Amino acid sequence: MTETELKQNNELPGKDAPIGVFDSGVGGLTVVREIMRQIPNEKIVYFGDTARVPYGNKSQETVIRFSEQIVRFLRTFQVKTIVVACNTVSAYAMEALERDIDIPIIGVVKPGAREAVLATRNGRIGVIATEATIGSQIYTKYINELNPQISIYGKACPLFVPLVEEGLWEDPVTDEIARRYLTELIDIDIDTLILGCTHYPLIRSTVRKVIGEGVTLVNPAYETARQLRELLLAHDLLRGEPPRLGSNQYQFYISDKADKFVRFANSIIKYGILSAKTVNIEAY
Ligand code: DGL
Repeated sequence: MTETELKQNNELPGKDAPIGVFDSGVGGLTVVREIMRQIPNEKIVYFGDTARVPYGNKSQETVIRFSEQIVRFLRTFQVKTIVVACNTVSAYAMEALERDIDIPIIGVVKPGAREAVLATRNGRIGVIATEATIGSQIYTKYINELNPQISIYGKACPLFVPLVEEGLWEDPVTDEIARRYLTELIDIDIDTLILGCTHYPLIRSTVRKVIGEGVTLVNPAYETARQLRELLLAHDLLRGEPPRLGSNQYQFYISDKADKFVRFANSIIKYGILSAKTVNIEAY
């Protein structure tokens, strides 16, 4: 994406403008939920790329191309900031997006790394994520920038995303897969585990059951929302008041299967999501 393509507005959006949030599918809603909780006055435009999920087994070039299309789409709403609510995109495309954009942008990996560094007591952190995120070693990089003494153990869990997308959040099949993935992390005595994929908080109770009570589970969404608030404050972009009633505070867009998305979204976010619109994201 060229600089001019992304810098579409001569005047940058102000406080009133919405926040753009995106993910490859429904997982980013776990981040939206946290943003709604921590900064409830904000307007949000969410895009979930339900037609092209999963991103976690795609190449970096493809993930960058998809992300650039989504950012172009979100910018048509004059968003004041972008939240990359996907670890895979944060791992693969953050640098490319940051390079060409003139509004603040935040991903989930750096905040998650920080939270885990604060949580660990024995200096042994596990990360579960997609193949792309684990392969990129991005958590290792950010954690060791904060503390080079910490050891990081990554484990790709590629079956978790389809299990979540199928709604098998609490199911014997998910228990069994979790046992296969997580046993080696138990054996190496980690005391902190990063849920390094925005889908995974939805199977948190399964992960907890398998990994045991002694391991701190880090959901990067919490720290991401906290840092987003700071970022908005620093740019004088934080909304002081709730938007007017009927002003469409939350809007949801996806690239395929709106009904399924709405059912999912309503079970993740308590605010009633009445509709989601389908867009042809390839056109952006
Ligand atoms: N939600 C994505 C992430 O956080 C994973 C889903 C996918 O593979 O697209 O990495």
